[in-house]
Amino acid sequence: MPSERSTRTPDVLVVGGGIIGLVTAWRAAQRGLATAVVDPAPGGGAARVAAGMLAAVTELHYGEQTLLALNLASARRYPAFAAELAEATGHDLGYRRCGTLAVALDADDRAHLRDLHAFQVRSGLDAQWLSGRECRRLEPMLAPGVRGGLRVDGDHQIDPRRLARALVTACERAGVVLHRVRAERLTVVRDRAAGVVTEDGTALAAGRVVLAAGSLSGRLPGVPEEVLPPVRPVKGQVLRLAMPADRPPLLHRTVRAVVRGNPLYLVPRESGELVVGATSEELGWDTTVTAGGVYELLRDAHELVPGITELPLTETLAGLRPGSPDNAPLLGPTALDGLLLATGHFRNGVLLTPVTGDVMAHLLTTGGLPEEARPFTPRRFDTAAVPTEQPV
Ligand code: GLY
Repeated sequence: MPSERSTRTPDVLVVGGGIIGLVTAWRAAQRGLATAVVDPAPGGGAARVAAGMLAAVTELHYGEQTLLALNLASARRYPAFAAELAEATGHDLGYRRCGTLAVALDADDRAHLRDLHAFQVRSGLDAQWLSGRECRRLEPMLAPGVRGGLRVDGDHQIDPRRLARALVTACERAGVVLHRVRAERLTVVRDRAAGVVTEDGTALAAGRVVLAAGSLSGRLPGVPEEVLPPVRPVKGQVLRLAMPADRPPLLHRTVRAVVRGNPLYLVPRESGELVVGATSEELGWDTTVTAGGVYELLRDAHELVPGITELPLTETLAGLRPGSPDNAPLLGPTALDGLLLATGHFRNGVLLTPVTGDVMAHLLTTGGLPEEARPFTPRRFDTAAVPTEQPV
């Protein structure tokens, strides 16, 4: 017999079972809302490819100070969030408070890092300038040519695949109904979002719909043109290598660099996996792993840590970041009653998972966006200014 919870119309239907959709559903269910998720493969999405850096400080970019505040708010939540999720599910999330070292390989990189450091300090962030020798003392496998770097002890990492699996379990344990099928179109009844129709023709009704479908959020049929979020796919190619278990770790912390203008990161996991990323390509929906992408990542990684060429290359993969016009997420109600967004997290989906869950649950239960999320209302992209406080 299906349970009462699975047959009743849910209060909330989340379209998209990536980490953002799942955390929204988990937090909503914890607050007593009957919640469902529709996704053919919950726990998949961009998190399957992502390296999982929690890099609020080392990924600081000019013009993104507003986003920085949200990134820091989420970074602060991570220890408690990870502990709660691990406790609720019994899963090991691969959460590693290892810090990050961003290094420079030549004079141009060094000038760029010096600039970033000055900007971090002006922004009140904790980052320490190190000489090349000090960098190599921390990470002896770095290339001898390293010219200096930034030590950021607060930028950590988590394994996004483990995070996604744990969120699936947390949702199931909290009573979230997972519809393992693709949502084909949004249903709108009397100018209000009322659910979706799935690819097998099933109508799923709901009190409210949260669109959290990552890069696909911008093209769900049935969503009125003026409400479709301006989210686009930004391709990232990522490699995985295996560090031998019987030798001292190749790296102790995340190491980043900009090599000939290309951002590069190496994320060593306790499991022995070494993630090397990532390209950033505006190529629409293409997810081909290319010889050029793999070559450039390996070439740059080898320049940074020559020893990587001895490691087995275990996986090559490309994913799609959900980019938005200002690189920040869209969180909140839309101009269509009953339709909310949690999408457009671009480079920061893993980092922003805890704060997104809290913001969306607050919104779904109280009708208002918490202060920290107000700058991220989707209404900022409306052509006509509309008040952000409205019933959801
Ligand atoms: N945050 C890392 C990336 O988007 O590649």
